[in-house]
Amino acid sequence: MAIERVGVVGFGAMGSGIAQVCASAGCSVTVREVDQAAIDRGWKGIDSSLARVVKAGRMAEDEAKAARARIGAATTFDAFADRDLVIEAVLEIADVKRKVFEELDRLCPPSTIFASNTSSLPIVDMAVTTKRPQRFAGLHFFNPAPVMPLVEVVQAVTTSDETVATLKAFVQRIGKVPVVSKDVAGFIVNRLLVPYMLDAIRVLEQGIASVEDIDTAVKNGLRHPMGPFELLDYTGLDIAYHVANVFFEEFKEPRMAPPPLLKRMVAAGRLGKKTGRGFYEWDDKGIKK
Ligand code: CAA
Repeated sequence: MAIERVGVVGFGAMGSGIAQVCASAGCSVTVREVDQAAIDRGWKGIDSSLARVVKAGRMAEDEAKAARARIGAATTFDAFADRDLVIEAVLEIADVKRKVFEELDRLCPPSTIFASNTSSLPIVDMAVTTKRPQRFAGLHFFNPAPVMPLVEVVQAVTTSDETVATLKAFVQRIGKVPVVSKDVAGFIVNRLLVPYMLDAIRVLEQGIASVEDIDTAVKNGLRHPMGPFELLDYTGLDIAYHVANVFFEEFKEPRMAPPPLLKRMVAAGRLGKKTGRGFYEWDDKGIKK
């Protein structure tokens, strides 16, 4: 089955990035968000991202315009009934996701594949709330989605091999690199990344090195594009805190538990780039001060 019509639920950083990627590859995309203000924010993100892609010479201006025109956004699910695939990218709250899939399950034909972009919740829990657990998988994109090549295809115990094969082909079709992971907290990338980021915070807590020197060490000693603290600020400390709690719950290993400093920074509202302060200070344009 070839996927041409995609539905995306959520128009935040991930949802808008995913919509942009699918539309840029020629798919028809319909997006649902809760209110007009969120839809306006999603368009703003797409417009600035497409402008960067055009400026970098990776897409002609008319191609970018055509990609944008392939996306439709609304506050209802009305345009979802003919979708081949629906990708959910709403808040990481199990109840919110469950309600979305219950509604979609009533609306979409049995052939529609459902995927969640969750980075922390079990895919199987969502799959069993629908009548199509065999056509339900994880499709985990990375931030910023228009730039990061990887997509993890997550196979829950209920997901059929056929669904995995269809999604792998779809990921390649939209110009990304697929890998297949079992449905375990963190899948492949976050299973490696999260303990590393938590360890960086512990290195700081132990007074071994400063934020700046830890980031400088990783960027220059490992050639990572960002150090762990830049990445924490970029993706959001609240997200790291939430994911660490989920990991600790799943594995019961002390190294997966959120370090006290992370908990306190979240309590103080120092969530990173989005609140102007995390481990670094950020200006209105998202530039490090
Ligand atoms: N949309 C489109 N293009 C973008 C973009 C966006 N949002 N952000 C950056 N780019 C493009 C730029 O236009 C530029 O393109 P060219 O090289 O063709 O000129 C290129 O990406 C590099 O950008 P910049 O020069 O502005 O800045 P940079 O070199 O510092 O790169 C970065 C920015 C791509 C974000 C890079 O720092 C990076 O790769 N960081 C690591 C990001 C990462 O690890 N993400 C994974 C997070 S974990 C996750 O997402 C999983 C989870 O579950 C939480």
